[in-house]
Amino acid sequence: MDITMTETQAETRKEDEGTAVEAGSKATERFNASGKLSHLDVPKERVSLLAGALIKAANDIVEEHQVTYEEYNALKAWLIKVGTDGEWPLFLDVWLEHSVEDVNSQDRPGTVGTIEGPYYVPGSPVLQTPATVEMRADEEGTPLRFSGRFTDTDGNPIQNAQVEIWHADSAGFYSQYAPGLPDWLLRGTIKADDDGRFEINTMRPAPYQIPMDGACGQLIDAAGWHAWRPAHIHIKVSAPGFQPVTQQLYFPGDPHNADDIASAVKPELMLDPKPRTDGGSGEEVVYDYVLAKEGQHK
Ligand code: DHB
Ligand code: FE
Repeated sequence: MDITMTETQAETRKEDEGTAVEAGSKATERFNASGKLSHLDVPKERVSLLAGALIKAANDIVEEHQVTYEEYNALKAWLIKVGTDGEWPLFLDVWLEHSVEDVNSQDRPGTVGTIEGPYYVPGSPVLQTPATVEMRADEEGTPLRFSGRFTDTDGNPIQNAQVEIWHADSAGFYSQYAPGLPDWLLRGTIKADDDGRFEINTMRPAPYQIPMDGACGQLIDAAGWHAWRPAHIHIKVSAPGFQPVTQQLYFPGDPHNADDIASAVKPELMLDPKPRTDGGSGEEVVYDYVLAKEGQHK
């Protein structure tokens, strides 16, 4: 698989080097603008319980590890920098969201989910199946035909289902977060047919390194960790009357499947694409979705 950039793509990127902080603050801007903040309503009892437990855990760490004033001040400076760099969405989605997702999906039957991450954009172009997501004329990478079918937990086809897809390009960049990419590059909302079937033509994404020039990168360097997520395709599936699923799909053989910095890989989320057998170029893979009805639980 050729994952090198074309010369023009590489040149555009070079001019725009050092833009990860921009990616971080964009994630913050979008979260602030998303409307998620307007209907947050956490009861006082839960705030007190959760904030109290977090503060206690932090104090226990100080006692257990005999934290020095130098370390305390390094923490203070770093927490300030996370905010200044706009990297709270990155930090939380990498190091915390996976547990939140586990807790909130534990009772839902059907297809497994995982974290959403910071780069979802609602309202991507609506396409009827079989669909091809937006790509540049010289889009690099291995073409991937991704198809499947929606059923309920009894095996009946689901009507009016849709697949929202978004992923990085073959250089690991997301549209609307890295500069110089078309707004809806490698993003789309694909409507399945009446039998619940969908087909999406896209390009295999590259492994992705979380931005290294902001506070999160500074932590990774200071701790001697790595910044890699395995190559992944983000998906949100939904249908009227059914519980939506947010997930990511991965590829066998990726060196970071076993040590994803975001701890978001699950065995059920592995795709295994094979060379296309119909004469088309690239690879094909089938992945079916089983959705739980609203209110249905294990
Ligand atoms: C981050 C990026 C991703 O693409 C993802 O899926 C999860 C986290 C990040 O940069 O924080
Ligand atoms: Fe991602």
